[in-house]
Amino acid sequence: MGWREEAKKRASMEAVKHVKDGFTIGLGSGSTVAYAIQEIGKRVQQEELRILGVPTSHQTMMLAVHWGIPTTTLNEHPQLDLAIDGTDQFDRQLNLIKGLGGALTREKIVASATSQFVVVADQTKLAEKLGTDCVVPVEVLPFAFPTATSKMQAIGGKTILRKAKSKVGPVVTDNGNFIVDVSFGEISSPKRLDSKLQAIPGVIETGLFIEMADIVYVGTQTTVERLERE
Ligand code: 5RP
Repeated sequence: MGWREEAKKRASMEAVKHVKDGFTIGLGSGSTVAYAIQEIGKRVQQEELRILGVPTSHQTMMLAVHWGIPTTTLNEHPQLDLAIDGTDQFDRQLNLIKGLGGALTREKIVASATSQFVVVADQTKLAEKLGTDCVVPVEVLPFAFPTATSKMQAIGGKTILRKAKSKVGPVVTDNGNFIVDVSFGEISSPKRLDSKLQAIPGVIETGLFIEMADIVYVGTQTTVERLERE
């Protein structure tokens, strides 16, 4: 295992220490949080923890099943005790860009429904300014694709419709929508940009997670750093 995988795993192990008996937990998506899901599964078996998970994607649902974590939905549990998720980029204010895995809408809904939102990442995800070498994924209703993208361009974004790798045509999300990856370069005000994007008709959700993360565990080459939002 290379150092980045070790770093992701170390960060995830710290996050799983927040899991307590009786918790309902939002389970994020991606390769980093997959280590946390595996560890939660181990604790369910070894400590007989009575917990429930709310998966944020089909992939995570299958991982939860694989590791023996009982699942539920927001219908039964609209208020979560904890959510753990990865990120594509974060800044020192703990604002995030998420969605390279395409699960941003469910991830943001789950993050908005929890008492504590804990993020796991390796150190390569830290940026002084969000948007540096990182697109902002935006989930868009297919009907609105032409109009929404031209409005994103009008506010300074370079847009690319995300294409599928093993299928012709666009990526279709778990919600049946498209993902537009938008480059803005360094983002001076992530909050303002998020508001502008949210105001575009047909935008379902953006990958900008502003003032949502409570803690980010950052795996480095040798250790784990804990950053907390002030
Ligand atoms: C998926 C996400 C993921 O959390 C993000 O892409 C990080 O993934 P990874 O841990 O594989 O780098 O936002 O929509």
